[in-house]
Amino acid sequence: MPVSSLRFAAPALAAAWVIAAAAAHAQQPRPALDVHFVPTPEQVVDRMLQMAGVTDKDFVIDLGSGDGRIVITAAQKFGARGMGVDLDPERIKEANANRQKAGVAEKVEFRQQNLFETDLSKATVLTMYLLPRLNLQLRPTLLDLKPGTRLASHAFDMGDWRADRHEKIDGRDAYFWVVPAKVNGTWQIEDGNSKFEIDVAQRYQTFEGVARAGNVTVPLRETSLRGDEIRFVTELESGKPREFRGRVNGNKIEALPPEAGGPQANTAISWRAAKAQ
Ligand SMILES: C[S@@+](CC[C@H](N)C(=O)[O-])C[C@H]1O[C@@H](n2cnc3c(N)ncnc32)[C@H](O)[C@@H]1O
Repeated sequence: MPVSSLRFAAPALAAAWVIAAAAAHAQQPRPALDVHFVPTPEQVVDRMLQMAGVTDKDFVIDLGSGDGRIVITAAQKFGARGMGVDLDPERIKEANANRQKAGVAEKVEFRQQNLFETDLSKATVLTMYLLPRLNLQLRPTLLDLKPGTRLASHAFDMGDWRADRHEKIDGRDAYFWVVPAKVNGTWQIEDGNSKFEIDVAQRYQTFEGVARAGNVTVPLRETSLRGDEIRFVTELESGKPREFRGRVNGNKIEALPPEAGGPQANTAISWRAAKAQ
């Protein structure tokens, strides 16, 4: 082609390239979403974050973050840092614009990625507004998070993992859980000079069991498990109930310091437990 013709062809070529690029962009398959975007009303967002007790010490991850409102509110009103993940690039664009507008760009980020492939280990609080089957799909991953991690879900529960708290806000459901430590099994306990075993049968954040010393077996009473904090009462010596409060750390339990007001006469203050192999 003579040089003079090229001069006329160049703008046409550039225009053709722009049209082709736009067409290629339009043809990019939209990501297959597990649930469509429906925003959580602001008053429900506020309440979910209050139920989870969010503070400036927290890192909040919203699974399927939409326009970013939950993580942005956590930063703006509660001082938290956080991250939202969403598969839809349009939502990420919108959330990024919103975090700039809200002046929390330093505290929060949004990533275009699948919530099921997201590393959740940094979260102290997780929020979600998904679907019942997605909550159930996530449940094993959530139960494996660090004990004490707090979860808040708009609209949907976790099946038979009952919520620690459930509230209605303007007809909407909000649920709250604390991830419980894993305490199922047999533990050997040292309490001063005495030693005994407990057998624990755990179901999410509740458990029952027995304490055994020699040929005496008694039920565990007043059991509670909140995150890594465990409590139970045994009465291996008749008429002498003993209260145990401790912090679970993997295969060990260490006594918790006595509660304000001093320990009760029947509180074990320097006890420890180890999981039987
Ligand atoms: C019901 S909206 C909730 C938005 C926001 N969390 C709120 O409560 O306002 C669910 C969001 O999940 C996103 N989503 C759907 N499937 C996803 C997946 N597999 N990974 C990440 N995000 C997903 C959708 O694009 C949508 O923005």
